[in-house]
Amino acid sequence: MVCQKTFTLNNGNVIPAVALGTWQSGEDQDVVYKAVKAALAVGYRHIDTAMMYGNEAEVGRGIRDGLKEAGLKREDIFVTTKLATIHGRPSMVPKAFEDSLARLDIGYIDLYMMHWPIALNPASGKLIPLKPDGSRDIDEELDGKFELTWGAMEKLLDTGKVKNIGVANFSIPNLERLLKTAKVVPAVNQVELHPYLPQNKLLEYCKSKGIHCSAYSPLGSSNSTLLQNETLAKIAKAHDTSIAQTLVSWGITRGSVLPKSVNPERIKSNIETVELTEQEIQEINDISKTNTKRFVRPNWGIPVFDEDFE
Ligand SMILES: NC(=O)c1ccc[n+]([C@@H]2O[C@H](COP(=O)([O-])OP(=O)(O)OC[C@H]3O[C@@H](n4cnc5c(N)ncnc54)[C@H](OP(=O)(O)O)[C@@H]3O)[C@@H](O)[C@H]2O)c1
Repeated sequence: MVCQKTFTLNNGNVIPAVALGTWQSGEDQDVVYKAVKAALAVGYRHIDTAMMYGNEAEVGRGIRDGLKEAGLKREDIFVTTKLATIHGRPSMVPKAFEDSLARLDIGYIDLYMMHWPIALNPASGKLIPLKPDGSRDIDEELDGKFELTWGAMEKLLDTGKVKNIGVANFSIPNLERLLKTAKVVPAVNQVELHPYLPQNKLLEYCKSKGIHCSAYSPLGSSNSTLLQNETLAKIAKAHDTSIAQTLVSWGITRGSVLPKSVNPERIKSNIETVELTEQEIQEINDISKTNTKRFVRPNWGIPVFDEDFE
């Protein structure tokens, strides 16, 4: 069944449970354009992109054409994009937002996120400036003061061009720091989340603060070892579904989920979720007792994830 589940955010707005992810959708921009249109045609109502994915213009074109072809209105869907790490300086935030909005060309953004609790040195103009040792070139002027970036993002709400603001890749220590000065509690924290990284503590913390969690890399990202997991294979077989569908079905019991695909059949099937039993959910919860893995771990050179602070 096409998943139509939604979650209500801390400001009363609603976020659809399954989104099409668009990271690493390939060099040929026509591919992501077609993927977005295919997703809207088969029932996705949430699309996730970012300035750093370099595809906002084609995602926006896919949304505009996809809405027309599916007979949908702009307000029927939810679109997320993200502030790039090279635009972390507060003075850069308004223009970075306007540029994303112009590239997407969809009137407004539903959710604008700080992509990482990091600001990179914008001087080089490179999207991901590196130091000679290969670590990311952190912006020394801002030096980890993501509270200032957040303050600039809060002001964007006054423009009416963004409905919700959120963060991504925020650990508990960083959220605690942010909440000390935040006037607006982030509506969403988007983090890597799947059975090898169930994020139990972070989910509990976010719930206590009214922050919704979205799961990125829910299938284990590219070349995923999750897709060969025996427990997942057994549960998938019992429901006559794929492991990917089982992962999405489990994911939506915890928050929203962002599976990426550019393949029309996989796009269609990934949003067809099944009702897992309590026992199956527990079996999947238990997978991380023997298997843990974080698939997305850029070399930032500073603590970012919860385990970095332990
Ligand atoms: N905030 C952040 O820092 C952050 C970081 C990472 C990701 N994200 C977001 O989360 C989205 C999802 O994460 P992700 O792209 O890392 O990985 P993912 O969705 O876990 O996995 C994508 C991979 O799985 C393949 N796949 C998709 N459906 C499949 C199926 N049914 N069976 C087998 N393989 C399948 C895809 O290939 P095909 O395309 O060929 O199907 C692709 O190689 C991203 O696209 C992005 O929007 C956010």
